[in-house]
Amino acid sequence: MLRIGAWGAGSVAVAAAGALTWRSVDGGVFAAGTGPAYEPWSLPAPSGPRDLVHAAILAANAHNTQPWIFRVEPDRIDVFADGTRTIGTIDPLLREQQISLGCALENLLTVAPLAGLRATPTLLPDPSDPGHVARVDLAPTARTASPLADAIPSRHTDRAAYLAERPVSDAALKRYRDAAEGAGVSLLWLADDDERRAFGDLTVRATEAIIADPDQAADDHRWYRSEWRDIQRLRDGVTIDASGQPAFIRTVAKIFPTTREQNHDGWLRGTRDTQVPTAAAFGALVVPDGHDPAARLAAGRAYQRLHLMATADGIAMQPLCQIPERVDREESAGLDPHFTRELADLVPAGHAIMTFRIGHPTVAAPPSPRRAVEDVLADAQSRSGEPDTAY
Ligand SMILES: Cc1cc2nc3c(=O)[nH]c(=O)nc-3n(C[C@H](O)[C@H](O)[C@H](O)COP(=O)(O)O)c2cc1C
Repeated sequence: MLRIGAWGAGSVAVAAAGALTWRSVDGGVFAAGTGPAYEPWSLPAPSGPRDLVHAAILAANAHNTQPWIFRVEPDRIDVFADGTRTIGTIDPLLREQQISLGCALENLLTVAPLAGLRATPTLLPDPSDPGHVARVDLAPTARTASPLADAIPSRHTDRAAYLAERPVSDAALKRYRDAAEGAGVSLLWLADDDERRAFGDLTVRATEAIIADPDQAADDHRWYRSEWRDIQRLRDGVTIDASGQPAFIRTVAKIFPTTREQNHDGWLRGTRDTQVPTAAAFGALVVPDGHDPAARLAAGRAYQRLHLMATADGIAMQPLCQIPERVDREESAGLDPHFTRELADLVPAGHAIMTFRIGHPTVAAPPSPRRAVEDVLADAQSRSGEPDTAY
């Protein structure tokens, strides 16, 4: 029988406390939002094309894959998809990748006037290369400040609870809808009780379906970063700090890293018990043809613009895309189009290619890691091999 006396128990306690402290430090418990992975959030006052790229990399992007490459010249920036940074069966049609590139393009264009540059985009300039998503011609102009450019470094995806009893005003929802329409995309709000219940139930069922699908579950988990040193080394992916979980659970998850099953269980619970029930409204960005790359880029530009507007207004947003991810999975794997039909019931006209929640925040949303500007420039890619922009 193992016996531990008072002295022995004390030693064990000291050793355990030491191990816990070591794991706390090693797991980044006391270092949230610090280190090289978070440095890009300090955005200098922009003055040249490279600073436009710096703003672009702070955009929302699916699973924080950062699927972009930029080629920078004094009077021009070319934006390419990085075909190596995909989410597999979560995004089999590359819808989310192209929306993410649209988000980056919107940040780039939003900050240009602040840098004294007039930026003129041409979408998909090379018909023989669908991975070449935009060419942006630059010319000097007077510097102009804008609240949306100022919001770029403080925009973060907020996965925590929102103030359940506080709606977002009709006036704000209308302003956001008008802004999306200005970007060529329809925005449908699902804000009354029945609509919210129907969208919320379908989102929870889509989350369950992703977790139950071995390929989607594995591809989703691949971009989950639980180790602090991976976050600082890879500077991408979805982190515990940005999960929206309460502080105590985040701390425990950093000290005792979770398995895929535990992680997905937490995701389902967070979706079902926190994110869905506290949303003031759900939004769907709708385009006539969800397969059209130009429409996907436009939807990304619209989403990013809305999120910057919301940030400037002190309002929280989170993409909630489990339903469209199941819709794409059904199409690419030839499954029964169950979620496709149910989404079409909710959004009868057009194609809902991006869905999200909105509400008043309860906490300050934390930043997610970002790779450095020099790591996403075309010359950096060619140093480590040719950029793979093939679709
Ligand atoms: C097309 C697209 C789909 C996304 N889907 C989800 C989602 O379903 N759930 C979620 O929590 N975040 C989603 N996000 C948000 C990204 O995970 C987030 O932008 C990324 O992790 C970077 O974090 P940041 O927005 O705070 O900078 C999505 C973003 C984009 C552009």
